[in-house]
Amino acid sequence: DWNMPDYITEAVEKIRAQVGTDDVILGLSGGVDSSVAAALIHRAIGDQLTCVFVDHGLLRLNEGQMVMDMFAKNLGVKVIRIDAEDQFMGHLAGVTDPEQKRKIIGREFVEVFQAESGKLVNAKWLAQGTIYPDVIESAGKGKKGQTIKSHHNVGGLPDTMKLKLLEPLRELFKDEVRKLGVALGLPHDMVYRHPFPGPGLGVRILGEVKKEYADLLRQADAIFIEELRNTPYEFVAGQAVNTEELPKNWYEATSQAFAVFLPVKSVGVMGDGRTYEYVVALRAVQTQDFMTAHWAHLPHSLLGKVSNRIINEVRGLNRVVYDISGKPPATIEWE
Ligand code: XMP
Repeated sequence: DWNMPDYITEAVEKIRAQVGTDDVILGLSGGVDSSVAAALIHRAIGDQLTCVFVDHGLLRLNEGQMVMDMFAKNLGVKVIRIDAEDQFMGHLAGVTDPEQKRKIIGREFVEVFQAESGKLVNAKWLAQGTIYPDVIESAGKGKKGQTIKSHHNVGGLPDTMKLKLLEPLRELFKDEVRKLGVALGLPHDMVYRHPFPGPGLGVRILGEVKKEYADLLRQADAIFIEELRNTPYEFVAGQAVNTEELPKNWYEATSQAFAVFLPVKSVGVMGDGRTYEYVVALRAVQTQDFMTAHWAHLPHSLLGKVSNRIINEVRGLNRVVYDISGKPPATIEWE
């Protein structure tokens, strides 16, 4: 149990001693770990750090802009944003198999990152937001363990680059990483966000991924998350009771929550007309370790409001369903 300012001072000194005057590159994903690693390394070596942020077009609503605002604008970190949406969509066209989609997204990610970081010829170090549980996990093998790691941690850089690894979070657990992030000035909401998978919306659009689907899903998902954040928490019979501290709102009361795009059309009515549009499913779970999970017993009033808003505000969706499957046998993601 360490004191945070002291920890930061120590970590900063260690990073400076390690890299000296060398340049460092880091793949920023918008996730908590890479964000905290970037903030810490920037605190230590300032402009010797360059972050590369690959926007694969499968991020949540306004996420790319938020990442740029937070790092480039607020913290003054050098960030190169690469808009690779067309490239990713092109490679995903016609592909429906979930693991195949993961492979393609992971492969393209590494390719885009390598091409860009290869231009930073002076970089001698590759920084990663590897945390302690990753270190342990990569020793064993989970269901998607290898895929998760190979995607997260931008593996397989070409030998010619000969980059050394800088992993300043290697000894920290997730809650410590979060506290560190807040102490480094990252916004609380960002640091306490639900986990988001590396392949992003690519595994939340069932079957073939299309930009049109991603745009619909982004809007529905943003409405769901906004309402979870804005609805005060209350105990509902049957829900898993969570933490020591009572959650303030339903976002905090759930471990992961998101919308899933179903490429299925169903009939609806609007005014005098008949509609024939797509369906989204809402998924919200409570879990300690993500290995098993309960579906969250969200208040019906909250679900009703989210459903109304999605159907009224998102042209192209006319039906919302709620996923009441536990893990096991269902997984948290639908793919
Ligand atoms: P499942 O769906 O297996 O998810 O119950 C368990 C946790 O893992 C996340 N997940 C992934 N994370 N790349 C990632 O970085 C992936 O391919 C991937 N698949 C699932 C999921 O969001 C949940 O937190």
